[in-house]
Amino acid sequence: MAHVNSRTLAAAGVFVLSVSAFAMGSRPAGDEEAISKRIAPVSRVEMAAATGAAAAGSRSGEQIYKAVCGACHEAGVANAPKLGDKAAWAPRIALGLDGLMKSAIAGKNAMPPRGASDANDAELARAIVYMANKSGASFKEPAAKK
Ligand code: HEC
Repeated sequence: MAHVNSRTLAAAGVFVLSVSAFAMGSRPAGDEEAISKRIAPVSRVEMAAATGAAAAGSRSGEQIYKAVCGACHEAGVANAPKLGDKAAWAPRIALGLDGLMKSAIAGKNAMPPRGASDANDAELARAIVYMANKSGASFKEPAAKK
């Protein structure tokens, strides 16, 4: 697996957003400065989301999911099991939270280690619980580690 880290993901996100902002907006007579002014706030929001607005270690499963994991798990990119797809998740849920933690930490096929995030173990576990519980599991969120 080529190196994919949260920075490249963030960069990709900004790129996609920039392109779509460009494509969607009514183009102001080819004024590049106006365009970059219009897309700047969007890029900043995306960067904040990707790097996690809250301090590392204290983010919720939902925050981690929305900032990172959803990039693949929302639409099922590269055969990632989609959020809410019970059939895709059932055999994975059967591995238990510990089993899923192992593959999420190490990475699995197209799934990069830690989903290419900077999530620590507690955050990663919360993100897995968030995803799995929206997809048929009833995992308990592990006690918050400081
Ligand atoms: C670059 C795309 C990508 C990102 C980002 C990503 N995943 Fe995945 N994930 C995958 C793919 C693809 C699979 C399926 C792997 C397989 O079974 O072949 C997967 C599978 C999983 C599984 C199931 C593992 C198993 O043993 O079956 C878990 C749990 C998981 N991801 C958690 C996460 C979490 C948590 C994040 C965010 C921190 C995340 N993923 C981010 C692509 C991604």
